Amino acid sequence: MNLGAAAATALTLDEYARIARECMDAAVWDFIAGGAGEERTLAANLEAFDRIRLRPRALTGVVQPGTSTRILGRTWTAPVAIAPMAYHTLAHPEGELATARAAGAAGVPFVASTFAGRTFEEIAAVAGSPLWLQVYCFRDRSTTQWLIESAERAGFEALVLTVDAPHLGRRLRDVRNDFRLPPGIEPANLVGAGFSSPDGHALAEFDPVLDWSVVDWLRSVSSLPILLKGILTASDARRALDAGADGIVVSNHGGRQLDGAPATLEVLPEIIAAVAGNNCPVLLDGGIRRGGDVLASLALGADAVFLGRPVLHGLTAGGCEGVARVLGIIFDELTDAMTLTGTRSVADAGPGLVQTQVRPLPTLPLPTSGMAPAVADVAISSELGATPCPAQAVPAVPVLRKEDLHASVSDPVLDTMNFLNEITFRYPEAISFAPGRPYDGFFETGQVFTHIRRYLDHLAENGNSPGQIRDALFQYGPAAGRIRELIASSLRQDEDIDVPPESIVVTVGCQEAMFLALRALISGPADVLLVSSPCYVGITGAARLLDIGLTAVGERQDGFRCADLEAAIRAERARGRRPRAFYVVPDHSNPSGATIPLETRRALLGLAAREDILVLEDSPYRLVSPGPRLPALKALDRERRVVHLGSFSKTVFPGARVGFAVADQLVVDSAGRTGLLADELAKIKSMLTVNTSPLSQAAVAGALLACGGRISELNTETAAYYGNAMRSTLRQLDQCFPAGHRAALGVRWNEPGGGFFLTMRVPFRADNAALARSAQDFGVMWTPMSYFYPHGGGDDSIRLSVSYLTQADITEGITRLARFIEAEAGFHRPLEEGELK
Ligand code: FNR
Repeated sequence: MNLGAAAATALTLDEYARIARECMDAAVWDFIAGGAGEERTLAANLEAFDRIRLRPRALTGVVQPGTSTRILGRTWTAPVAIAPMAYHTLAHPEGELATARAAGAAGVPFVASTFAGRTFEEIAAVAGSPLWLQVYCFRDRSTTQWLIESAERAGFEALVLTVDAPHLGRRLRDVRNDFRLPPGIEPANLVGAGFSSPDGHALAEFDPVLDWSVVDWLRSVSSLPILLKGILTASDARRALDAGADGIVVSNHGGRQLDGAPATLEVLPEIIAAVAGNNCPVLLDGGIRRGGDVLASLALGADAVFLGRPVLHGLTAGGCEGVARVLGIIFDELTDAMTLTGTRSVADAGPGLVQTQVRPLPTLPLPTSGMAPAVADVAISSELGATPCPAQAVPAVPVLRKEDLHASVSDPVLDTMNFLNEITFRYPEAISFAPGRPYDGFFETGQVFTHIRRYLDHLAENGNSPGQIRDALFQYGPAAGRIRELIASSLRQDEDIDVPPESIVVTVGCQEAMFLALRALISGPADVLLVSSPCYVGITGAARLLDIGLTAVGERQDGFRCADLEAAIRAERARGRRPRAFYVVPDHSNPSGATIPLETRRALLGLAAREDILVLEDSPYRLVSPGPRLPALKALDRERRVVHLGSFSKTVFPGARVGFAVADQLVVDSAGRTGLLADELAKIKSMLTVNTSPLSQAAVAGALLACGGRISELNTETAAYYGNAMRSTLRQLDQCFPAGHRAALGVRWNEPGGGFFLTMRVPFRADNAALARSAQDFGVMWTPMSYFYPHGGGDDSIRLSVSYLTQADITEGITRLARFIEAEAGFHRPLEEGELK
């Protein structure tokens, strides 16, 4: 066989493995290919990738997906680095020099092992991409320190401390082969340390009693970032962060340490969940053999992967060129997989990309519930002295297939909130115009106690006995809520909404009010909810949870038009469906910031009556906005067409999670008995959250009592603050984008008179990848408007929330945003000294 020709034409990494095996000494092959014990973990790594499936996406228009990524401040061509492996000189005489050259040409980092066969200086002389040093900690710390210092002198940029090897695993192939390093192969950076065989050196020299303080020690001898390699559990991941690690490598050492340890891909999700929000890169290695494996790892949360054995196979088959081909194949496969799954960029890869194929559930005798007992239950019963299950009877923890769960859990809409939270934590230094949160400066912890005290005094003044007062706090309460009178009185005073307390249901935030209203009103697949679009994701998500069909009525540039709603209603009827309700945020809408004028409000109520639909009015920003207010739709509603969905999150505090629904519509049953829609909502609520926390209701009631029910007065200062924030934002936008510049860039924005949000048209695709660039390189965040279009759209717009920031942050944040927009549009302005890019 002509190995050169085979290596030149091999198309997969497995083919390179076969070629390498044929031209390698059998014992060296075993040293590279083998794992510990019976090699179950080695096999598990590969099987985990075999079980996972990528979900193709049709007609996405993705042509040249961006594979590049930034890790620890450096851009990598692809989210792949070369794993630390001892003695590349076993595979090819040039050893690490050939590998480092190939990594440099490909634009990905090379991690040199403590046991590299070439010196750090030699490697650094040929490398063209970041170099990291893998560190084993020796008994003699001065040896380790010396190693680190030599790597630092050679320009290495990070340390990867291997934490899964207090000593080397029992690699049976090496034991059987009595494997010894061939003459001439030695740890070039430890020459003179007297190492003989891989097993011998480790047993003799590794420090077997390391603990987490080793991270402090490393920090004391080096200022380089420290990653811990060999983390396989959520608790160790958290300990790594607590110990001060700058990154984590989820690794089982390629199956070479603890045989029986889980596959790295299996544990990745729990580790990602454990470190979420810590701005800590998570890498994974073990079993990556295709570009699709890289994408699957990204989809489950890894920032990048290490490639191990295939690199040595390429090196054996063709030196530097062989490694380059191995990397080339994996990059091509990754690009191909990204294109076919519609993944535009590395930042876009999310859990929706994969579907896992899992083992069937155990066929052991099951308890009557039909569910196998979880491992934890088994452990507990043996702890309590019950007869422990025989080892083979311990059932595997059931693994549920995501596609067997309700389809909403795979809907990107449900990831929106989490994504925004996650990205905010990932870039803590960035100024964020993303969250629609109230400004923290108005909250004082003591207020909560004052409010509750006031409410309890109020109960006492109204003749309640101490026992009744105690029950009002400690016991379950009525499903419809305890504070309905106070809310009704406040609505009368502030909003001119005059409804009986019985028409109110107190809910867990406005979100529950939406859910209850949808559950009650939409009775089957033919019923349709219409929404003004762009639209608040809370209602889209609630509809998704309930399998309710949505029809979007697009806002024009000048806002919502009744004619568009009317056309949508007619079109739905023509399709045999029953338009049931129209959801709208009439004042300072989230996300667009638009406010519906008075005439249109009246016209909307007229249309609702003519077409026999209800209007779901959600208006949380009215009382925290400056200046005069237009009447609420519910205040204009003479025919009980409007279900008003209220919230105290902006006016009192969001942590209370108290909202309400005003549902004074009459409901008649088949026997002719009538009641209120609120009664039906309360019934549904009794099976969902039972009742809204009495403690939270007490806090809100105390706030209402403090201002005599005039929530607007309680919020005078707040409304002025938000008004100023909006004005400063608009002023700063004007300054950063003077008229001519604005027109040349194709930028424009609306100018809401209140509320938390404004929207901005930008000259580029405003997707997650753009958001990641903006956060990382320019230190500013915003929300892509595309999140708010139930049927697609908004790709060239962003939402800016002004509520959460100080004036200084707004000025600086808009300046950064302007720089980002200019850079995306290809407009280059010279950077000032000390300025973020
Ligand atoms: C390794 N690995 C390793 N890890 C480490 O931290 N320091 C080291 O010196 C070595 N040496 C080493 C030698 C050889 C021959 C192999 C195969 C592996 C483990 C390596 O970094 C990585 O975790 C695995 O190789 C990844 O799995 P795959 O990609 O080989 O399946």
